[in-house]
Amino acid sequence: MEKKKHFIESYPLTRMRRNRSKAFSRRLIKENSLSVDDLILPLFITSGKNIEEEINSMPGVFRLSPDRLLKLLEAVVSLDIPAIALFPYIDKELKDSSGTYALDDDNLVCQTVRLIKKEFPELGVICDVALDPYTDHGHDGIIINNDVDNDKTVEILTKQALNQATAGCDIVAPSDMMDGRVAAIRKCLDKNQYINTQIMSYAAKYASSFYGPFRDAVGSNLKHNNIDKSSYQMGPENSDEAIREVSLDISEGADMVIIKPGMPYLDIISRVKKECNIPVFAYQVSGEYSMIALASKNGYFDLEGAMMESLISFKRSGADGIFSYFSIEAAKILKSNK
Ligand code: PBG
Repeated sequence: MEKKKHFIESYPLTRMRRNRSKAFSRRLIKENSLSVDDLILPLFITSGKNIEEEINSMPGVFRLSPDRLLKLLEAVVSLDIPAIALFPYIDKELKDSSGTYALDDDNLVCQTVRLIKKEFPELGVICDVALDPYTDHGHDGIIINNDVDNDKTVEILTKQALNQATAGCDIVAPSDMMDGRVAAIRKCLDKNQYINTQIMSYAAKYASSFYGPFRDAVGSNLKHNNIDKSSYQMGPENSDEAIREVSLDISEGADMVIIKPGMPYLDIISRVKKECNIPVFAYQVSGEYSMIALASKNGYFDLEGAMMESLISFKRSGADGIFSYFSIEAAKILKSNK
């Protein structure tokens, strides 16, 4: 890209602090802002009644049974947060090597989606398409000859997405990083008349250590605490590859894309926003949440400041929206600032 020439006078004619010296002026020169419209709240669900378990590695985040979830959603809706993303904690007994329970039309996710849609029909509901909460080995797909088999996994994921769409979710979000899954899911949804169910693909998802607390939250770390997903998730060294991934997903019918994790990959968000014409979402993942939550809990810095600063960094990088476990707190602050 061509660099713009900047004709600026130097000090003392120019004083950058002049614009920053008063609050009204600082407001006027703000280049980016965060709104509640930008927020998506990820939520962990568990079966049973009246359950609210705090996740050890994510202070302030809970696994909720569907009844408790509905209570929380009253607050989410009254704060005007546009959408939530559901992640299930599946009982050990229901897991197997091929994630069979993901296809059960009365599984925890389907039950919960139906409940939510009955109570809060306007709230956007996003379901994760991947097998990791359902497999006993914790991989996102099924393993054949020691490898997560792409094409067989896509067949199952397609059925999982249809199952979620049938339950009534608005958006299916494949987070598995298999090749060709977006096209397969789009074709299957269309064939079954779900032409308006959106696909938000985790198009550029990196093999990241920052997912650690999430795996604790959904219990997908039964076998290994440090499962290696690098044969399907991207290597952190790569940037051009993200553009290919996003472009492919767009050509396969993705309506929106996610870049994940968030803060360590702001450059990717910025490139995708500039180079690909599609709504781009940042996922501020569990490890990013926990770093901020724990450091502020220890008194190393102020929670509110660090949280809002982290969120605006996504907007500055070009994200259209953000998945954040801080969405409720952030929405409250945004509301009180009005
Ligand atoms: C699984 C999935 C993961 C996350 C969202 N969906 C973890 C993984 O790929 O191992 C991570 C979310 C987070 O860390 O907050 N398909």
